[in-house]
Amino acid sequence: MQLSILTLLYLIASVTFIIGLRMLSHPATARKGNLIAAAGMALAIFGTIFLYRDENGNKLHNYLFIFAGLILGSLIGTLAAKKVKMTAMPEMVSLFNGMGGACAALIAMIEFNHLSTLLSQVPDITYPVAFVTNDGRSAIAGRLLIILAGLIIGSVSFAGSVVAWGKLNGKVKDFSFKGQHIFNIVLLLIILSLAALLIFDFTKSSNNIFYLIFGLSIIYGVFFVLPIGGADMPVVISLLNSFTGVAAACGGFLYNNKVMLTGGILVGAAGTLLTILMCKAMNRSLLNVLVGSFGGGSNAASSTQTAGNYKEITLNDAAVVMSYASKVVIVPGYGLAVAQAQHVCHELEKLLEEKGVNVTYAIHPVAGRMPGHMNVLLAEADVNYEKLLEMEQANEDFKNTDVVLILGANDVVNPAAKTDPASPIYGMPILEVEQSKLVIVNKRSMKPGYAGIENMLFFQPKTSMLFGDAKGVLQKLVAEIKTL
Ligand code: TAP
Repeated sequence: MQLSILTLLYLIASVTFIIGLRMLSHPATARKGNLIAAAGMALAIFGTIFLYRDENGNKLHNYLFIFAGLILGSLIGTLAAKKVKMTAMPEMVSLFNGMGGACAALIAMIEFNHLSTLLSQVPDITYPVAFVTNDGRSAIAGRLLIILAGLIIGSVSFAGSVVAWGKLNGKVKDFSFKGQHIFNIVLLLIILSLAALLIFDFTKSSNNIFYLIFGLSIIYGVFFVLPIGGADMPVVISLLNSFTGVAAACGGFLYNNKVMLTGGILVGAAGTLLTILMCKAMNRSLLNVLVGSFGGGSNAASSTQTAGNYKEITLNDAAVVMSYASKVVIVPGYGLAVAQAQHVCHELEKLLEEKGVNVTYAIHPVAGRMPGHMNVLLAEADVNYEKLLEMEQANEDFKNTDVVLILGANDVVNPAAKTDPASPIYGMPILEVEQSKLVIVNKRSMKPGYAGIENMLFFQPKTSMLFGDAKGVLQKLVAEIKTL
């Protein structure tokens, strides 16, 4: 009876994960979707703690450890989520994802110990045990395969995520050496060969091989992420996220736990889809992301020296052209998030609307530093979702736009993506702001954006620069418009 209640709880939890994921796809429902999936996870956790029985009817014990872990984890998670700045969100996601990978690796270790202890207690055991060729023991081989998959994928995800976290907060620098990619491939082949050896030829010394595989997987995770360029970190984090999902799904197989399996598969699939979507939005292949060193030091323009003449616009002139325009499109970018200028940006939008100006926002899929960064930022300031235009629609609208106001965006409006085949961002779809009548660019200097490349948009005749921190500039702009 209890088992069937637990199965029902797992089913409900699985459904909430799917509903939650679906709701995450729109800003209006995302918050609720997150809560629904979290409630489902709570059902699954507490259902397991109180209702689970093993094949001998024993329930879980160790309640002290379980609840100590739960309380400590919840405290750390809540505090971290409350304290984290919007711009540091990818770092937090990366670190938490790494913890998931570590859990999967630990589960694999515990289950390996169980398995080898059980084997050593079998009276007629003779080493080496060739599981695969021995029909009676092929189930053990399957189990070992899943344990090893969980160990390798979980360890790579853990080590890679920690390095990604270090890179995002500047503690770890991009690092690569000649032949690094060959080194990585050879290391991976060694890991896989050792895993095959362990399954085909299990001996008393297999414990050592198991921990060797663990160590090599950690090293592989580090060297897998170290050379990847800074601007590609969100893609890598998403990829590692999908690894963690697969590693967790291995745990679901091991424990015959359906909700763990469903959760793991959903994370694995969602992470893979997001990785593909981000690569598409940048018009890059995953291979190019993994070996391209994009956004690292090598692409960075060496100084703040500029490639031509640019003109500036005064606050007063900017206020006038925007107030008397009939259509203004705001292009938010990473700088808007850094400046935390979303609220005053919304204030500007409302003020212009009161003056009869039609104001919308053009959202590039990889503006900012994580998927949906701009949507979340603007939602925080209560900007109406209807006002957010996706790239394709915005590009249709620019030709009918009087003023485009770019706030701390750079790469996502860089025409080199269309015109310069030698540019590292060539082929990336961009917001084609130059089709509008006037472009005002707010940033603090002429320094490049994340990709580290010059932006010729700033030197075009219809572009004017409005220098300063986005928040300060917007506050002054709002004040100017109020006087008109
Ligand atoms: P960026 O190209 O990084 O440009 C941001 C600009 O904001 C900088 O040029 C900077 O210029 C300016 N800025 C910084 N702080 C500011 C402040 N306080 N006030 C005003 N301006 C400020 O940003 P983007 O256009 O949003 O492009 C995103 C980049 O990240 C792309 O290269 C994209 O490929 C990459 N990326 C994003 C993602 C996701 S999912 N979002 C994933 C992978 C890669 P100053 O220093 O002169 O102020």
